[in-house]
Amino acid sequence: MDRDFLGDRKGLLHAIELLGRDHEAVDSIALPIMLPEKGFGPHATLEYLAAGILGGAARLGAATSFAHMDPPTPWITWATTLWNAALNQNLLHPATAPVARMVEQRVMEWLAPAFGMTGGHMTPGSTLANLTALWAARECAHIEEVVASEEAHLSIRKAAHILGLRFRGLPADRHGKLVGESLPHDLTRAALVLTAGTTGAGAIDPLDLAGRAAWTHVDAAWAGPLRLSSYADRLTGIDRADSVSVSAHKWLFQPKESALIRMALT
Ligand SMILES: Cc1ncc(COP(=O)(O)O)c(C=O)c1O
Repeated sequence: MDRDFLGDRKGLLHAIELLGRDHEAVDSIALPIMLPEKGFGPHATLEYLAAGILGGAARLGAATSFAHMDPPTPWITWATTLWNAALNQNLLHPATAPVARMVEQRVMEWLAPAFGMTGGHMTPGSTLANLTALWAARECAHIEEVVASEEAHLSIRKAAHILGLRFRGLPADRHGKLVGESLPHDLTRAALVLTAGTTGAGAIDPLDLAGRAAWTHVDAAWAGPLRLSSYADRLTGIDRADSVSVSAHKWLFQPKESALIRMALT
């Protein structure tokens, strides 16, 4: 087998050493304009990229990053991400990820009860979790329309478009929460999407509206992990949703791209 696929202990240790160095902050990286005909080899490539990639990255653990929803990541996730990169497991198929799939299911069993759910799976981000949820709503509850606050994440509108569903935007109040009184009376053909933690302001829509439509999806990409904290009651009502998405790469402090979609299996 090509040596590049076997792992190079010296190279990997050097990569860790480069990560730990203080790199001067830079705001660009000099990449060749044209695709090079020949690669530099892994060692030289690491050296070449380090100054720009490591020096040019936003420091999400710095106090100046506090308002961003993307968090810093604990070192254990750097190590497990390295394992994942080396093993490239595909959770879709038992032959390509025999044990990783079991781990996925067990993690779901741990987390699902906090959301009143019975099952679910991992996705590469809440954009896809939201799409999956609305696809399930279309297939299982035969919805024709998606109703959400104008403050809902763009992925909701996009998912509606991809799935051939109408999107109806409802007003939000000055705090960014859906105005409950604006809800249409007839939601028998609609999926109602409530956001727990809007992208712009972190607002939580009135979750007591869950259950008022043929399908309720809660986009808890940001605030979902509150359910595992002493602030769990901020999301009271989420357990009445039919589906919930949570981005693990936000308040679960995992690296991108990790998220969960949970479904109330009926
Ligand atoms: C409320 C909300 N929903 C969904 C998403 C999309 O999540 P992801 O980045 O995991 O695809 C975001 C991302 O910022 C978000 O803020």
